[in-house]
Amino acid sequence: MRVLLLGSGGREHALARALASDSAVTALHAAPGNPGIGQLAERHDIAIANPREVTDLARRTAADLVVIGPEAPLIAGVADALRADGVACFGPDVAAAMIEGSKSFAKQIMLAAGVPTASAHSCQDDAGVEAALDEFGPPYVVKADGLAAGKGVVVTPDRAAAIGHARACGQVVIEEYLAGPEVSVFALADGTRAIPLLPAQDFKRAHDGDAGPNTGGMGAYAPLPWAPPGLAEDVITAVIEPTLAELRRRGSPYRGLLYAGLALTPAGLRVIEFNARFGDPETQVVLDRLATPLAGLLAASAHGDLAGTGPLTWRDGAAVTVVIAAEGYPGRPATGVPIDGIEAAERTPGAYVLHAGTTRRDGELRSSGGRVLDVVGAGPDLTAARAAAYAAAGQITMPGGWYRTDIAAGVGG
Ligand code: AMP
Ligand code: GLY
Repeated sequence: MRVLLLGSGGREHALARALASDSAVTALHAAPGNPGIGQLAERHDIAIANPREVTDLARRTAADLVVIGPEAPLIAGVADALRADGVACFGPDVAAAMIEGSKSFAKQIMLAAGVPTASAHSCQDDAGVEAALDEFGPPYVVKADGLAAGKGVVVTPDRAAAIGHARACGQVVIEEYLAGPEVSVFALADGTRAIPLLPAQDFKRAHDGDAGPNTGGMGAYAPLPWAPPGLAEDVITAVIEPTLAELRRRGSPYRGLLYAGLALTPAGLRVIEFNARFGDPETQVVLDRLATPLAGLLAASAHGDLAGTGPLTWRDGAAVTVVIAAEGYPGRPATGVPIDGIEAAERTPGAYVLHAGTTRRDGELRSSGGRVLDVVGAGPDLTAARAAAYAAAGQITMPGGWYRTDIAAGVGG
């Protein structure tokens, strides 16, 4: 199978690593990729949110399967264009990807499908915003309606700050606060059927102890020793299957990865958000644990053919990833900062380093984004995996670089 992978982050490096180790993959191409992905795949410098450029590249590389990593190409209609061209694509069409692209569309689908989620109102003016805030009470949850790379949500006890965020966003969704631990459950979907991956947990806040602003994600671990047994299956039954059925009923069958971000509240599980793609950085730990070869799974989803896929197999033990961020993230990150120590980090038993926001300039590796590297540690349990990840992270040097020190701390296992 000849595979073309779109994207340039740590999630895509993890996908490339899993695809490159799958003997069914005879050629691996990536666009635009990053220096880490470049060690596994042939890179192509195209605009991946331009449907025409992607269909041209798929033809030039004779791709049997295109795997879309990030949301921007999905929302730009790249999956639609590939399918129209007869190319199998892992990633939903625009109409289905709107489950991530519009928070209010996601709410409509959940309401129609009977999927448990926070009550919410869509608002666009001060009067509507204030009425919604007062209906739900603090802590206030205000979400920009469009794509915001994980940074469009403000959760605050401060009413004035909630109103300020709503004004800055324009169209917003204001919703009930959901208390309880958060879990990310990914499902491979083929339009009709779905198979869950291992539940994982992400750390969204910038600083230790869940302090500071929301980010794209500062670390993750899997499995979750504290999760209720059968969680993934419950999510398939209560959330994923009804959502797929509702999208199908509307003529938008969902093929790709449906990501449910959930709160496990005292009243049961509730969807916080959907994403139309693999989560980042959860994918880095989930794929580390996956023993079933990846390419066949993604191809089966793309071809509407998951029925023949047997149960997935998972490696024993655990994985932890720690994100190394650039100075200034999640605001304006410092780019062009030299990075050293990856080889030393990878000499740590059980650890390896994925590139998330890097570039090579004059032969030197430098930062090119807010989340720069994902250090992954694996081991027989979370304690060992965490120790490996942090020992390796300690070998990396990048002026101004920083990371949380409490990823997967105190979670058991
Ligand atoms: P989202 O982009 O919707 O995933 O929101 C980002 C983060 O904001 C989530 O991971 C939660 O930590 C928090 N959040 C979003 N919605 C809620 C809610 N209704 N109740 C509590 N926390 C929320
Ligand atoms: N880990 C959060 C996200 O991928 O949106």
